[in-house]
Parts: sequence; C-alpha cells; structure tokens
Amino acid sequence: MMDLDFYSDSSIIADSRSYFDAMRAQGPIVREPFWNSLIVTGYDEVMEILVNKDGVFSSTVSILGPNPGLPFEPAPHDIRAQLDEVRSAMPWADHLVCFDGKKHTEHRMLLGGLLTYKRLKQNEEYLHGLSDMLIDRFIAKGKCDVVPEFGHATTVYAISDLMGIPIEDRALLLEQMGAPPSQLAGDAPLKVGPDPLSAMKPLFDKYLRERIESPRGDLMSDLVQAKFKDGTSPPFDTLSNLACFLFGAGQDTTSRLIAMAVLILGERTDLQAKLRAEPERIADFIEEVLRHDAPVKVAYRLATVDTKIGDFDIPAGTIANVCLSAASNDAAKFADPASFDIDRPNVRDHMGFSKGPHGCLGAPLGRMESRIAIEHLLKRTSDIRISEEQHGPPGARSYRFEPTYTFRSLMDLHILFDPA
Ligand code: HEM
Repeated sequence: MMDLDFYSDSSIIADSRSYFDAMRAQGPIVREPFWNSLIVTGYDEVMEILVNKDGVFSSTVSILGPNPGLPFEPAPHDIRAQLDEVRSAMPWADHLVCFDGKKHTEHRMLLGGLLTYKRLKQNEEYLHGLSDMLIDRFIAKGKCDVVPEFGHATTVYAISDLMGIPIEDRALLLEQMGAPPSQLAGDAPLKVGPDPLSAMKPLFDKYLRERIESPRGDLMSDLVQAKFKDGTSPPFDTLSNLACFLFGAGQDTTSRLIAMAVLILGERTDLQAKLRAEPERIADFIEEVLRHDAPVKVAYRLATVDTKIGDFDIPAGTIANVCLSAASNDAAKFADPASFDIDRPNVRDHMGFSKGPHGCLGAPLGRMESRIAIEHLLKRTSDIRISEEQHGPPGARSYRFEPTYTFRSLMDLHILFDPA
C-alpha cells in the first residue's frame, strides 16, 4: 500500500478502507513517500491534531492538502512568518474553513449565530414536504438514481430554502460550483485554479445587496445584519464569501450521505424492516453511516512549528492528512469497526463532521436533512433493492465513486422499489 499515492491512485478512491487499515497497521501516524505528508489514522492522534490545543496546526491547507504544495521552502522549526506572508494568496484563502486562530473564531461566530434552532425548525417543516415532493417525482417509475434525483435534489432545495436563494438560480449555481475541489483529472496532476466558489460570488453579491435594500426573513437577510463580537460590521466581501461557502459546504456532503445511507439499506433488507418498524432509530442509523462510510474522508492541517503527537516528531512545514474515516474505523475506539451496527453505544464519537474548532457548523442541518429524507423514503416504499442491471448481483456489486481523494462520493446509485 505504501507504493500507492493517496492523492492520485484510483484504487484508493474505490476502497479507501483497505488503504487506511494498511496504514494504521504500520502505526497511527506514518509518512507517505509521494508528497511527504503524514497519514494520521489513529483516533487519538486525529483528535489531538483537530483539537489543536496549542494552536500549532494551521488550516490554510484544509481543502487541498499537500497538493499543490506550499508556495515556500519551509524554514526550520517555525514557518509562521513565512505563512503569514503568503496566506492570502493560498488556494481557498477567502473561506472560513482555511482561516486560523482569532480570525477563524470571529468569522465562525458570525455564521454560527445564523444557524439557530428556530431557523432549523422552520427548515424542518419544509424538508418534510420536500422529501415527499421529490419522491412523488419518481415513485410511479419504481426506480430512481438516488444521487441526482433524491440526494442532490434534497440538499440543493434545502439550503436554498434556508438561505433564500431563488428557485430559478439553483441549477446555475450548481453548474458554477462544478466538481469537488480535490477532483483528480485522470492521471494528470490536479489543476489548482481559482476556487470554484468564486464563480458564484457575483450572484451572492447580488442577493446580499438585495437584502441590504429590503430584508426578507431568510438567512441571507440575517447575514447582512450580522456583527462581529465587538459590534463592528464585517466587510461586504466577507459576508459574500461566507454565503458562498455555506451554500457549497452542504451540497456534496449531505447528498452523498443520503446516497450512502440508501445503498446500505438496499444491501440490508433486515435494516429496512427494522427502521420501518422503529423510525425513531433512523437518527442512530444515520450516525452509523457517518462513522462507517462518511462523505468526507480526510481533512488537512499544516504544522507551523516543530511539534510532537505521542512519540512522533512533526517538523514545522509538515502537512498532516488527518484521516477522519480511518479514525472512525479505528478498532481501538470502535469495536469491530467494519461491521455496520446501529446499536453502538459510542457511535456519536465518529469523526464524520470532524472535531475541534473547525468541526462542521452545518452538522445539525446535515443530520436533519438525511434523517427526514430516509424517513420518507422508507415510509413511501416497501422494498428497496439495488439495481443488478446497473451495479451487478449481490456479492459482485460495482459502485462508481467520484475521483476525489477528499470525499467519498457515489457517482450514481440505481435502486428499484415497490411503492408502499
Ligand atoms: C452530512 C453532511 C456534512 C458533512 C459530512 C460535513 C463535513 C464537514 C467536515 C468534515 C468539516 C470540517 C473540515 C475540517 O476540519 O477541516 C466541515 C466543516 C464545515 N461544514 Fe460541513 N458537512 C456536512 C454538511 C454541512 C452543511 C449542510 C453545512 C451548511 C449548512 C456545512 C457547513 C460547514 C461549514 C461552514 C464548515 C466550516 C467550519 C469551520 O471551518 O469552522 N456542512 N463539514
């Protein structure tokens, strides 16, 4: 497995579990030879880096990892001054997930204050109707491709309703957003252009200006009124970047969580029966999907000074590939991790939403969207089956995943079902 390049080998994309298990067998932290990054697979080690108690790990590389490389030769022991010089020119530099320290805390609070319980409750009512509306579109066919028709459709409508994005603009925004940021281009190295969210910025600028003129009760109307803790108003560009990121962050993640959940149900008729009989267990089921087969496989951090995790020395300038999915499948934390078990007592300790200061802000929404989607799909069908025509017979299935090293993202999922 050491001969495989995590950042380009397509066999890892189809089966990252085997790669992570092989790495973990060599130790909770190992250095891979292609990009000189650390592959961190141990639960405790992943947690320590994410919690980042002493602030030594930077998130400037959190979207792309070691690819395309740092724009400077790291100085020995301490790269903080070097990083500060180039920070604003690094890929994705304008987005919350790449911010560090005080700047990160201040901007995160702006967004966090908008995703309130009250707003999510309003969105919940909408989501019940939305799931039924989407199922109505394909129920009579007795089949569907879950990825576009249910997963993606759910997430784009849900976030648009929450934020106040006009229906007619949704398709254009998705097109502008394009492929996930760590998408490989065949065998060619990843091309790093401007972040794809910047293409959506003119539209978000327009939405926010409209809301400054006339507020309308949606999340973007609250965003334009949001203030930093010291009472000052953020620059317009900051607000617009936050809006773009919020729209993008929950698309592929939640839609792929829904698709993976349906895949597992299609393979497990016993689970379908259990959850139809006990729908209150769907929330636990979703947590176990996030542990067993999460949409985000890895996050990345950059050591800014020489540091140590356990006995492992990490020199300044080292990029750590923080393998969230590997940590969620570490036998030292989760008993018999490869088996899918909705009764695990510690399932919520999974790393599906990351942990620490950058832990997912949209987790309550992602959880709610997927729980409601699965609840309605199970209620409206009596027997979900994987299409053998598209994915092969049981025991010899084939599923296609987007060629990205960061996400675990089904390209399609064809199911058959009987209406209930
Ligand atoms: C099942 C669905 C989702 C999954 C698996 C997921 C996963 C993640 C992960 C792993 C991170 C942390 C990255 C890091 O540590 O570097 C993250 C961050 C984030 N997510 Fe999610 N996410 C999901 C849904 C959403 C939704 C629906 C939204 C928005 C409404 C959202 C908004 C965010 C934001 C704003 C951050 C950045 C937080 C920060 O840097 O402080 N996510 N997400």
